[in-house]
Formats: sequence, structure tokens, C-alpha cells
Amino acid sequence: MTKLIMVLLLMAVVMSTAAQAASIYAGKAKAAEVCSQCHGVRATSSDAPFPPLAGRDEEYLKMALKQYRDKTRISDIMNNIAGSLTDRDINNIANYYSRLSK
Ligand code: HEC
Repeated sequence: MTKLIMVLLLMAVVMSTAAQAASIYAGKAKAAEVCSQCHGVRATSSDAPFPPLAGRDEEYLKMALKQYRDKTRISDIMNNIAGSLTDRDINNIANYYSRLSK
């Protein structure tokens, strides 16, 4: 009986880590596909015209992307790009970039 409980606990831990990893993975895939062309995968060089995203605050990134999507923050480029992102994409991408080291 205790063995069964242990196995169930272990499964719960493994499943929750897998879910976490999946969202970072999805964010990474999306970032590599769409965002990295301008923002780089890691920090862009300081004189690049695009603000770096690696290691930025997760909540800040979410807020910025939602503002671009709602067009409360105006940028021709980013309004177009963020317009097609779902809340889930935004969460995944913000999660991914915030965990990258600068
Ligand atoms: C074609 C180039 C290009 C692509 C592709 C692009 N961006 Fe941007 N991004 C920009 C530019 C230019 C700005 C600065 C806009 C401004 O002045 O607000 C910017 C700004 C941002 C900011 C605000 C940063 C800050 O310091 O406030 C965030 C967050 C951001 N982009 C996220 C993303 C994400 C996530 C993706 C992929 C889904 C992406 N961008 C794809 C060009 C791009």
C-alpha cells in the first residue's frame, strides 16, 4: 500500500515537471521560429536595434506582448507579430525568455 502511494506521488512529480518543461519547450520553439530573427535567441548585441529579451522579467514580457497585441503599445512590427499570439503563446514565450541567462 505504501509502495502504491509512493508510485503515485512519484508520477505526480514527474508529470508536473513534464508540464513545466513543455511550456518552456513550446516557448522556445515559438521564439526560435518567430522572435529570434530580430531579438536573437540570447541577448542581442547592445547596438542592435531590437531590445534584448533574454533574462527579462517574465511579468514585464507578458505585459509588453499583451499591450502590443491590444495595440495599447504601438509598434508596426510588434503589433503585427503579437496580434497572432494566444495567451498560451505569450505565457510560454515569456517563461522561456525570462529563464535565459543574459
Ligand atoms: C521583425 C523584427 C521583430 C520580430 C520578428 C519580433 N520583434 Fe519584438 N520587437 C521588435 C522591435 C523593433 C521592438 C521595439 C518596438 C518598440 O519600440 O516598442 C520590439 C520590442 C519587443 C518587446 C518589448 C521589449 C521592451 O524592452 O519593452 C518585446 C517583449 C518583444 N519585442 C517580444 C517579441 C517576441 C516574443 C517576438 C516573437 C513572438 C518578437 N518580439 C518578434 C522587432 C521584432
